[in-house]
Amino acid sequence: MADNKRNIILTGDRPTGPLHIGHYVGSLKRRVALQDSGKFDEIYILIADAQALTDNADDPQKIRDNIIQVTLDYLSCGIDPERSTICIQSELPALYELTAYYMNLVTTARLERNPTVKAEIKMRGFNEGGVGLPVGFYTYPISQAADITAFKANCVPVGEDQMPMLEQCREIVHKFNSTYGEVLVDPQIMLNENTACRRLPGTDGKAKMSKSLGNCIYLHASREELHQKVMSMFTDPDHINVSDPGKVEGNCVFTYLDAFCNDDLFAEYCPDFSCLDEMKEQYRKGGLGDVKCKRFLENVLNEELEPIRQRRARWEADIPAVYDILKAGTMKARETTGRTLSEVKDAMKINYFEDDALISEWEAR
Ligand code: TRP
Repeated sequence: MADNKRNIILTGDRPTGPLHIGHYVGSLKRRVALQDSGKFDEIYILIADAQALTDNADDPQKIRDNIIQVTLDYLSCGIDPERSTICIQSELPALYELTAYYMNLVTTARLERNPTVKAEIKMRGFNEGGVGLPVGFYTYPISQAADITAFKANCVPVGEDQMPMLEQCREIVHKFNSTYGEVLVDPQIMLNENTACRRLPGTDGKAKMSKSLGNCIYLHASREELHQKVMSMFTDPDHINVSDPGKVEGNCVFTYLDAFCNDDLFAEYCPDFSCLDEMKEQYRKGGLGDVKCKRFLENVLNEELEPIRQRRARWEADIPAVYDILKAGTMKARETTGRTLSEVKDAMKINYFEDDALISEWEAR
């Protein structure tokens, strides 16, 4: 099957808020690089609105508001609609049919063991205070497997928090293929090599950037917003005077520099040092103030965000074009996912109206 040998990427995001620099460095930047590498036959980016609804059932307006927002974020980062197909999950009915068939291949015990689901249940307090666990949320790893397999993706570049989702998906692929025949493609997760990029903490030093904590730097942050966020960033609380020795570990400024800085930027923005290791060494010894490090970080981030701001301004001036890109991408994805669904139904022999043997077998009895 030719389709099963092609290099196909699928990634996606839940449209629950504007994307931030954690998304960018953990995944978006690499998507653009993979797109520009020309090594992939097809690239799909899924706006996972239905998945977002699994724990936002009371707020579809929030999801709706972020459809164009997230698309603008993609386009501003350099996702090129000529080479990457952006599509909306809820507009792809084949995904729900696949989910229904895959549900029969997964046990409740297996879902309960999924570490991401476990952690999220805890974080959202579903099982406490009598809120209860929505079935749709509980089963979203199965629908995510439908997302991935429907596009026949062999490569899924996502954050490491998605590892359990990929494992679950691969189990479904193996189970399906061994039960019904080789139809589905075994996907590989592709993680970021730079570990600092894998999970960027919030500007307050908390584990994750989150809208409700107000500790995000959004991709759409203006120069002023960025300045304010960087200057108020969590550093080493024991580093009080410039002369004090400071800690680099757990210090956001350095964590962000690890993720964003390349040493060439020192010549222009902080010529006292030639590389990040030198800067860290001085900070550890004492004699290097937070403000100087923050100014450098601000410049480093502006260097990255400025081209993104400029592309955004161009797309924002033409929202109907953004809408058309979404629509065209979704139509293309409908075809792709519909084809996989047909193959799945063929393999399961439940494609009754494409199957004349159903008549002849019956007549021969
Ligand atoms: N679960 C992913 C997240 O929370 C979003 C997502 C949905 C996804 N479907 C996907 C990612 C398929 C990769 C492939 O970020």
